[in-house]
Amino acid sequence: MSTPGVGLTAAELKLLQALVYQECGMHFDERRTQFLQDRLQRRLKECRVDSFYSYYSLLVSHEGKDELSRLLENLTVNETSFFRNKAQMELFHKFVLEDILRRKQARRDYSLRIWSAGCSTGQEPYTLAMLVADGLGYYNLRNPLPCQTRLPKPLIPPPWRVEITASDISYSVLRTGQQGIYTEAQMSGVDYSYRLRYFDKVGDHYAVKKALKEQVHFDFHNLKTEYLPQRNDVIFCRNVMMYFDQAEQKRLIDKFYRCLNPEGHLFVGHAESLLGMTEKFQMVHRNSGTAYQRVEMRS
Ligand SMILES: C[S@@+](CC[C@H](N)C(=O)[O-])C[C@H]1O[C@@H](n2cnc3c(N)ncnc32)[C@H](O)[C@@H]1O
Repeated sequence: MSTPGVGLTAAELKLLQALVYQECGMHFDERRTQFLQDRLQRRLKECRVDSFYSYYSLLVSHEGKDELSRLLENLTVNETSFFRNKAQMELFHKFVLEDILRRKQARRDYSLRIWSAGCSTGQEPYTLAMLVADGLGYYNLRNPLPCQTRLPKPLIPPPWRVEITASDISYSVLRTGQQGIYTEAQMSGVDYSYRLRYFDKVGDHYAVKKALKEQVHFDFHNLKTEYLPQRNDVIFCRNVMMYFDQAEQKRLIDKFYRCLNPEGHLFVGHAESLLGMTEKFQMVHRNSGTAYQRVEMRS
C-alpha cells in the first residue's frame, strides 16, 4: 500500500513550476501537473525533507545544485528510437546531406557538423552517424577526391571530417548513449544491413562499433542557456520543444538560427512546427518529410 504524500499547496506548486521553467524551459500546464506532482513527491521522499517549501529552499541553495539536476532528470521524458520518423530521415539522407556535401565540396570545405539536441539515450545521433557514413561513402563514389587511396577504407573518407554532437540535460541518458549498448527491443527499427555493418553482437545485446562511436561526441547542454554548440550544418531537435511554452520555443528557435551555418537545416519533431513562429526559417518538404532551412537575410 502506498503511503499518502506530503501536502502540496497551490503556492508551493507555483514556486516549483516557476523554478523548473527558469532552469530548463519545461512548462507543466494543467495536463502535466499531476506528473510534476508525482515526481516532486518522489524526490521529497528520497531527500527526507518534510515540506515542499523546505524542498524548494534546498533546490535554490548552493548545496542543492545536485538535487536540482536530479529533479530535472526525473522530469524529462526520454522516449526515443532508431530511425524515428523515417520520412524525415530520408529527407536528411537523400536530399539535405547531398545538398550540403555538394555546396561544401565546391568551397573545398570538407567538414560536416551535426548536432542532436535533446539526444536522450543516443538512438538519434547514432542513426544520423549511420546515415552520414553511408551518404558520404556513396557521394564519394560519385565524386572521388585524389587523396583517397588508404586501405582499409576508413568509415569517413578523407579529407572529410564529421562531428556529431549529441547533447542532453540528463547525465544518465548521456551515459547510456556513450556506452552505445542496446537491447533487441531497442533495435527493432534497425534493419539487418545496418546491424551487420555498424553493431557487434555482445551476448543478447548490440554494441555500436568503435568506428561509428567515434563520430558521436556526447556532451551536457541545457537548451535554456546561451552556451550551445556553434557552426552546425544541421540541427536535430525533435520531441523536445513540445515540453516548452511558446515564448521559450521562440527563444530556442532564435538560438538554433544562431547555432547554424548559413543555409543550415533544422529538424523538429512530428508534433512540432515552426509555422507562424519565425520568419528566419523556410519549410522544406519532400515525400512526407519536413525540415526547416535557415533563411539568409540579404543586405
Ligand atoms: C522525448 S526525448 C527526444 C529524444 C530524441 N530527440 C527523439 O526525438 O527521439 C526528449 C529529450 O530532451 C531532453 N531535454 C528536455 N529539456 C531539455 C533541455 N532544457 N536541455 C537539453 N535537453 C533537454 C530530455 O532529457 C530528453 O532526453
